[in-house]
Formats: sequence, C-alpha cells, structure tokens
Amino acid sequence: MKALVLTGIKEFAIQDLSSPQIAPNEVLVNTAYAGVCGTDHDLYAGRPGSAPAVPPIVLGHENSGVVAAVGSEVANVKPGDRVAVDPNIYCGQCEFCLTQRPELCDHLSAVGVTRNGGLAEQFAAPATVVYKLPDNVSLKDAAAIEPISCAVHGVDLLKLRPYQKALVIGDGFMGQLFAQIVQAYGVHQVDLAGIFDEKLERNQKLFGVKEIYNTTREDIPEDSYDVIIEAVGLPQTQAQAVKAAKKGAQVLMFGVGSQEAHFEMNTYDIYKKQMAIQGSFINPLTFKDAISLLESGKMNVDPLISHELELEEVQDFLDGKIKGVSKAVVRVHTE
Ligand SMILES: NC(=O)c1ccc[n+]([C@@H]2O[C@H](COP(=O)([O-])OP(=O)(O)OC[C@H]3O[C@@H](n4cnc5c(N)ncnc54)[C@H](O)[C@@H]3O)[C@@H](O)[C@H]2O)c1
Ligand SMILES: [Zn+2]
Ligand SMILES: [Zn+2]
Repeated sequence: MKALVLTGIKEFAIQDLSSPQIAPNEVLVNTAYAGVCGTDHDLYAGRPGSAPAVPPIVLGHENSGVVAAVGSEVANVKPGDRVAVDPNIYCGQCEFCLTQRPELCDHLSAVGVTRNGGLAEQFAAPATVVYKLPDNVSLKDAAAIEPISCAVHGVDLLKLRPYQKALVIGDGFMGQLFAQIVQAYGVHQVDLAGIFDEKLERNQKLFGVKEIYNTTREDIPEDSYDVIIEAVGLPQTQAQAVKAAKKGAQVLMFGVGSQEAHFEMNTYDIYKKQMAIQGSFINPLTFKDAISLLESGKMNVDPLISHELELEEVQDFLDGKIKGVSKAVVRVHTE
C-alpha cells in the first residue's frame, strides 16, 4: 500500500508498505480522509504532540475510512462500515485510567503519533477506538470528528449555562469549531476574536457568532465574559483571555503554548473574581458527542474545510508553501 512515511526530522518519503497485520481485537481501515493539524506540524519538526513520534512512522490522527477487515474478537464494526477512528489509546491500568481520567494515561499511545496512522491507504486500530458513522455524515466531514472531540472535552470541563456570554479567542479551525459547539451546548451568546476579517465575518454570517473582534486593530473588552476559550496558545492571547473574565468566569486554556512560554496575570483577580482557569488535553470518550453534533446538524464543518490535498502535497503544506488554508484534509481514497 502507498504510504507517506515520516523518515526523520522534516523528512517524508512516499513508500510502498505491506498492509498492516491486525490483532484479534483490531480493525483494518481503508483510509478515506486524514485531517492535518498543528500537531502534525510539531511531529514533522521533531517536537512531541500528545506523545513523541519516532521515525519511521506514518502520521495522520484525524482519520475516517471504510472497514476492510476485522479481527476475530471485534463486535462493534464489520467490513464495509464507514467509520471514524479516535487516535488515542489508553492503557486502562494506570492510576489515571483507573480514576476516570484516561486522557492523562501514563502509557498513552496514538494512531498517527506512536503507531502508524492515516496518511496511508490502510491503517489498523483497536476496535475500542473505531466508531461507526451515521449515514448523513460524510467521510470528509468525519475527518473533523477528532478535532471536534478535543473541543468537546474542553467544553465538558466547563460548567455551561444559557445565561452565560462566551468569548472564543482564536479564529483558526479549533476556535471556529468552539464558536459553534459552545452555542450547541446552550450558551446564549458567543463572540469571536481573531486576526482574519474574512473568517470572523463568516462566523457571524454562517454560525451565529454575535460580536467579532479583529485584534490587529481592536481591543477585546475586559471584565466582560462568563466563559473565555483561548484557542491560540500565545502568551498575549492567554493574558487577554484572563483579562476578559468577569466575576465568576471560567477560562479554558485550550491553545498549546510553547514549552518555554509564560504569561503574567494579576493574582488578586483570581481571588476577587473567583476565577477558574482550566487546561484541556485531548479527547477522552468524546467521539460519540462529536459525531452527534455533526449528525444533528448542530455543527457544520464543511465550509471550514478549505483544502483537499494528495499525500504528495502534505510536505508542501507542512512547509507553509500552500497558502490560505483554513483546514486541510488529505484525500486518500474517495467515497
Ligand atoms: N487542548 C487540546 O487538546 C488541543 C487540541 C487541538 C488543538 N489544540 C491547540 O489549539 C490551538 C488552535 O488550534 P488550530 O488548529 O485552530 O490552530 P491554528 O494554527 O489554525 O490556530 C491558530 C489561529 O489563531 C489565530 N490567531 C493567531 N494569533 C491570534 C491572535 N493574536 N488573536 C486571535 N487569534 C489569533 C489565527 O487565526 C491562527 O490561524 C493550537 O494551539 C493547537 O495546538 C489543542
Ligand atoms: Zn489534530
Ligand atoms: Zn493508563
């Protein structure tokens, strides 16, 4: 099978690999689409994602496809089923798995990070992370289920109520997903701050966002929001998120900062405002909710997917040679 193999730091090669052998509890998937995201940028550059990727390895952790074969113990899917695959595999035995926080697992493995992923014609995964798709969710949109599921985990860590006014900082793919998800979870007003007029306006027109702020020329209001979701990961946007908090606010720090970065905040404000500042890591058992958001039409990701790439174009994309990308997915097999 054709595969795009990460062979070293910033080195890819198209190779002809043999099809993965599946264990009795595993599923073999013919890849349809594999989304490419910031984590792939990190892995390509030799930095860890949720875990380090050790070359040679096939990346691709946002995968959809059609089941090609199943092992003898697999009961949840059968050949021909259209599926999306949660990349993250938990050990089930460590302190964190045994206390209902599997995302913090000490022995996390992941499809497309620590084992071969979807940037190949086929990949294998344990049945426990393979989810059958509803008929009305396309295989292309299904490549967004993994990123949606990460945002759903962030939302799960907050207490959301209709009275709240929320601000999402970041008009990248994740920020735009949050703008829709927070409304689907009942918050009555969601505003969006970013740096691209076109993306900000699209969210107002298509996705029910109320106020927009282009932070290249406008300030985000301070002391104004009950819920703030930071989806950029820069010290200045993290500081803006905390400043935007009003009394009783919850701040979700979703963006991934660099390992050396720090930001300053007023420590008295944490007390005075009874502020909650919450981190969020990956997507424990949130795939079902993510699928249901697409199935119900509460979310629409199609307008956000701007590029369908070939395997051969992934390196150019990760090198920044393909411009104007909102979200890129790699089309491995078509529907
Ligand atoms: N916590 C998790 O589990 C998890 C999962 C997925 C992604 N993430 C992180 O979420 C963040 C966003 O992901 P993404 O895929 O949207 O990446 P992205 O690169 O598309 O997002 C960054 C976007 O933020 C916007 N931006 C940049 N500077 C800004 C500023 N000063 N003010 C407002 N907006 C600004 C830009 O539109 C940019 O495209 C990244 O840090 C990513 O690593 C976290
Ligand atoms: Zn990703
Ligand atoms: Zn574990």
